[in-house]
Amino acid sequence: MSIDSVREREARWFLPVVKRLPIVLVEGLGSRVRDLDGRELVDLSAGWGVTAIGHCHPALVEAIAAQAGRLMQTTNLFYTLPQLDLAEKLASLMPAPLTRSFFTSSGTEAMDGALKLAHRATGRTRFVSTHDSFHGRTLGALGVNGQEKHRAPYEALLPATTRIPYGDAAAARDAVDGRTAAFVVEPIQGEGGVNVPPRGYITALREICDAHGALLLADEIQTGIGRTGAMLACEHEGVVPDVVTLGKGLGGGFPIAAFLTTEAVAKTVALGDHGGTYAGNPLGCAASNAVLRVIEEEKLVARAAALGERVLAKLRAFAAEHPDVAREARGRGLLLGLELRDAERAGQLPLRAIERGVLVNVTAGRVVRLFPALNVPEDDLWPALETVLALAKA
Ligand SMILES: Cc1ncc(COP(=O)(O)O)c(C=O)c1O
Repeated sequence: MSIDSVREREARWFLPVVKRLPIVLVEGLGSRVRDLDGRELVDLSAGWGVTAIGHCHPALVEAIAAQAGRLMQTTNLFYTLPQLDLAEKLASLMPAPLTRSFFTSSGTEAMDGALKLAHRATGRTRFVSTHDSFHGRTLGALGVNGQEKHRAPYEALLPATTRIPYGDAAAARDAVDGRTAAFVVEPIQGEGGVNVPPRGYITALREICDAHGALLLADEIQTGIGRTGAMLACEHEGVVPDVVTLGKGLGGGFPIAAFLTTEAVAKTVALGDHGGTYAGNPLGCAASNAVLRVIEEEKLVARAAALGERVLAKLRAFAAEHPDVAREARGRGLLLGLELRDAERAGQLPLRAIERGVLVNVTAGRVVRLFPALNVPEDDLWPALETVLALAKA
C-alpha cells in the first residue's frame, strides 16, 4: 500500500473537511510512531495533547483489553463499576468541592453538557467567552468559541455569547452582568496559540462571576489532567471553578471526556436533564482509570512541571538568540508554544519536521505548539526539539 493509494481512496470516500499531512501512521509506542513504510518518528504533539501517558502504554492496553472482554457497553439504566470508580477518583484528584461528574465521549459534548448545566443552575441564557478560544464544534461549544473561522458559518444556530479579549479582567468586569449564565474560559488557551493570561486573571474572573451570580466554567480539556504541571491549570492560581470540563489526556487516547461540578450546582438539575448512550461507557471509564493510575504512579504531574520548565527555558533562550525568527516562547508544564515571526515558515514546519522524523503541531498560524506525552523520554524529546528549532530558523 502506498500513500498515493491511501490518498486516492480517502478523496473518494470521506467528507472533504479535513486537511492532512502526507503520512499514514500505523503504530505508536511511547513517544514514537511508525508510518506505513516502517519509518519511526518522535511525536511531540501526542495526538493533540491526548496520549498523555504515551502511545499504547501497556497498563492502558491491558485495562482496555480486560474491560472489553468483561463488559463493553450497557445503558445508564444500570449501575456499572468503572464509571463509579472514575467519578470517585476524579473527586479525589480535583480541588474541593468539584465532586460531581458526568462522562461523555468527546470534549465538545462535555462543553455542551456544561453549558446546559450553567443554564439550569442560573436560569440564564447568556454566556461570556474570549477571543481566540476553542471549546469544540458541536452547537453549544461552537457558540462560545472565540475563533471566527469555526463559528461564522453556523452563527445562526448558536447560543447568545459576548466575546471579549483574553486576559483582560477589565473587559470581563464590563461584560459579565446579572444575565450571564457563565464565563467560559481556558486557563491557558491551547488552540488559540498557547496564550497564557496575566497572573491574577483567573482569580479576577472568579470574583467577577461571584459578584453577579454567574458560574465560572473552566474548559480544561487541553490544560487539565496534569498537562500544565498541576491537575487543573486553575490550581496555579488556587481558583476553583463551578464547572470544569476535561477530555484529551483523561482517556490517554480512548475517547472519553467529562464535566464536573460542585454539590451546590449539582442540586439544580433534575432526573433526565442530560444523558447519552455512551455516557459513562465502561470501556472508556476503565481506560481512564488506568491512565489516572499511571499518572499517579509515575508522578507525571510533577514531571510535567519540572521538565516543562527546562523546555521553556530552552525555547526562551532560542527566542532571545534569534529575535528575527521567534517573537516569544510561552506556556506552562508540557503545554508550550514558540511564536514564530514568519507565518509561511511556521506553516511549512510540520511537513518539514515529518521529513526529519518529528511530529510537531503549529497552531494559530505561527505558534509551534509542543504538547508531548507527559512521560516523553528525554532521549526522544531533546533531539526532536533540536530538529524543530533548527527547522524554525532554516
Ligand atoms: C480547550 C478545548 N476545549 C474543547 C475541545 C474540543 O474537544 P473535542 O475535540 O474532544 O471535542 C478542545 C479540542 O481541541 C480543546 O482544546
